[in-house]
Amino acid sequence: MTENASEGANTLSIRDNRTGRDYEVDILDGDVIRAMDLRQIKVNEDDFGMMTYDPGYTNTASTRSTITYIDGGKGILRYRGYPIDQLAEHSSHLEVAYLLLNGELPTRSEFDDFVHEVTFHTYVHENIKELFSGFRYDAHAMGMVMSGVAALSSFYPEAKSVDDPDARSQQIIRLIAKMPTLAAYAYRHHRGLPYVYPENELGYTANFLNMLFSVGSREYNPNPVLEKALDILFILHADHEQNCSATTMRVIGSANADPYSALAGAMGALYGPLHGGANEAVLRMLTRIGSVENIPAFMEGVKRREERLMGFGHRVYKAYDPRASIIKRTADEVFEVTGRNPLLDIALELERIALNEDFFVERNLYPNVDFYSGLIYQAMGFPVEMFPVLFAIPRTVGWLAQWEELLNDPEQRIARPRQVFEGASERDFVLMDDRT
Ligand code: SDX
Repeated sequence: MTENASEGANTLSIRDNRTGRDYEVDILDGDVIRAMDLRQIKVNEDDFGMMTYDPGYTNTASTRSTITYIDGGKGILRYRGYPIDQLAEHSSHLEVAYLLLNGELPTRSEFDDFVHEVTFHTYVHENIKELFSGFRYDAHAMGMVMSGVAALSSFYPEAKSVDDPDARSQQIIRLIAKMPTLAAYAYRHHRGLPYVYPENELGYTANFLNMLFSVGSREYNPNPVLEKALDILFILHADHEQNCSATTMRVIGSANADPYSALAGAMGALYGPLHGGANEAVLRMLTRIGSVENIPAFMEGVKRREERLMGFGHRVYKAYDPRASIIKRTADEVFEVTGRNPLLDIALELERIALNEDFFVERNLYPNVDFYSGLIYQAMGFPVEMFPVLFAIPRTVGWLAQWEELLNDPEQRIARPRQVFEGASERDFVLMDDRT
């Protein structure tokens, strides 16, 4: 806080015209001001002071971070400085997981150690099967996996030691390792098939596919094209800075809750159709449209606000989501193996219209990460209920990286926003018989 304005100073001059008073507020690096510096702005000395009002936090930085950088105007996405297209081309999900957690790409020995740790923590306690057996056969997979994650907090009470780096690392490994197992168990429960245990000699994504799709004693060898495609999708979904579910992870984590409880909450946020549940909503939308001929009527419904074009639009990207471009290319490779998804024609026509018609162009409604991913998942044989789970598996490492950054940030405190109260002023209680 500086006392007197000087031309060119790194400050904001604020004149409160209600009182004629002038204030100087420091502009910090990152082109931000501290919201608390506004509290000095008052009319009367005993006023609470000025706050910002920002529903949905559209213009509020909740943290400093070094994990993921997005330039929404240019469609740029980098994990720890590495462009997403280079990571998708050259890396693997577990290598990207190491990068997100540790800030640097691993050496060969660091990577081998990390993979070994993850590989040998893929089993879940047998009691999880009892938990899952309580769900109906048609229970949504996201509801089951979210419950399974929350339940894990009861199996690892040491997870409450969130200030112990070793305890945190152990839970991080466990969560990355066990999410595919929980997801596969939920899928097998839905299908009425016996659970398949993790195979330690398989890679992370191959092991997941094996737990999902192997049947009986027949040797199951995942198609390498599909395995690679799923691993690329995992890379693309691993983190996305302060999105709704990462913010949820941070808010719950700010209370020093254990990471399983926080991650179950983050999954709840991701489940929403405006967020990670959009990939499922896209498939349901494409199926409901049914044919290219029905698109004009649907799009008129969007313009009348009777429909929402799921898989389009983004709070940050006002250009093409770079992940959507990579997923679109990956879809072509998958369809070479699985056969073309007939809904692709509808998707491509929706995109063509959205990129050309004013209503959509004016609102920057480009395809986002969720628009094409579901077409790949469906072609690979996943039911739509698994789509948000396929988002949650890779995003687990992003949530955990954000969570650990929060705990290591000396500036962070328990999340507790303020409100603008517009409710009733004080009034006396009226007994029931006296109420009219
Ligand atoms: C993800 O944050 C992240 O990083 C998320 C994510 C990640 O990796 O974590 O990228 C993953 O969640 C991607 C988004 C998936 N969701 C969807 O595809 C659902 C459809 N999209 C929207 O609901 C919407 O675009 C949001 C939720 C993604 C963004 O919402 P905003 O930023 O609050 O935008 P808005 O609702 O204020 O929309 C601005 C305008 C409005 O028009 P007006 O009422 O002002 O005239 O655009 C319109 C909206 O009505 N609009 C849409 C639309 N999205 C915005 N109109 C039709 N269809 C849409 N999809």
